[in-house]
Amino acid sequence: MEFHQELNHCRRLVEQRLGEFFADELGLHQAMRYSLMAGGKRIRPILTLQFCRAMGEDEALALDVACGVEMLHTYSLIHDDLPCMDDDDLRRGKPTCHRAFGEWQALLAGDALQAEAFSTILKSPLPPERQAVCARILAEAAGAEGICRGQYLDLNGEGRALTELELTEIHRGKTASLLTACCRMGVAAAGGGASDMEAAAEYGKHLGLAFQIRDDMLDELSTVEELGKPIGSDRVEGKTTFLSLYGQERCQQMVEQLTWKAKDSLRDIPNREFLCRLADELSGRTN
Ligand code: IPE
Ligand code: IPE
Ligand code: MG
Ligand code: MG
Ligand code: MG
Repeated sequence: MEFHQELNHCRRLVEQRLGEFFADELGLHQAMRYSLMAGGKRIRPILTLQFCRAMGEDEALALDVACGVEMLHTYSLIHDDLPCMDDDDLRRGKPTCHRAFGEWQALLAGDALQAEAFSTILKSPLPPERQAVCARILAEAAGAEGICRGQYLDLNGEGRALTELELTEIHRGKTASLLTACCRMGVAAAGGGASDMEAAAEYGKHLGLAFQIRDDMLDELSTVEELGKPIGSDRVEGKTTFLSLYGQERCQQMVEQLTWKAKDSLRDIPNREFLCRLADELSGRTN
């Protein structure tokens, strides 16, 4: 299948399955669904599906694990936008969750999505030991050594000039840890071995850093219409970013170098074609 066809196929699978969760018209489900179904790029679940496929299994085997990943990611976005964090009004082209539903509902919608992420993985049609491995990988990526650590350092660093080393640590925590986990969970869902796990981790680490550098660039260089989130938010919040440290040209060189490293990490994986192409596409993404 051609790359874009395959990408759309995976996206459709994820959209359709996600739409089956949290179907109550009223109560907390409403805020959860609002953010979950607002039309993200679904890069993380696609990575999970495609790593499962690269291991020679049908991607549908990892579908509920992939949906769990997107729930966790959406929680992290809802909380990231709150007034006490990045204080943003627009996400995925719509008012942020707290703008639409108020702060306490957004907080709870995020909390619930995080718990439901694990519940979805632990109820997925995988053998129990594979469910457990996936849940553990996600827990490690989400917790005090992963996203929460990155977010802590990010907010703690506001208003100060950070070094490249400090900023890399932030980006690895807040973004690359989850992208790495998505890749590893795809391998784990398929029952892949240690060397495949390592390759997935390597790919996710480089891709994740490239992804956040590109995010920093788009925060200044894109438009609200294209990005679906506010422009200049990092500057307003007093954040050091790769763009503020190095400027556009150098940043894009870094993105491309990291993309090359990500692809190279997959050299021993025979079915790597889609994943390499995806890394290339993300290096030039405009939203
Ligand atoms: C935004 O992630 C947050 C970052 C870690 C950079 P995405 O750019 O994947 O956002 P969605 O899911 O497409 O909305
Ligand atoms: C967000 O980083 C990382 C997480 C949500 C964990 P950013 O704060 O740069 O993401 P955007 O730009 O608001 O999407
Ligand atoms: Mg943030
Ligand atoms: Mg933000
Ligand atoms: Mg950003």
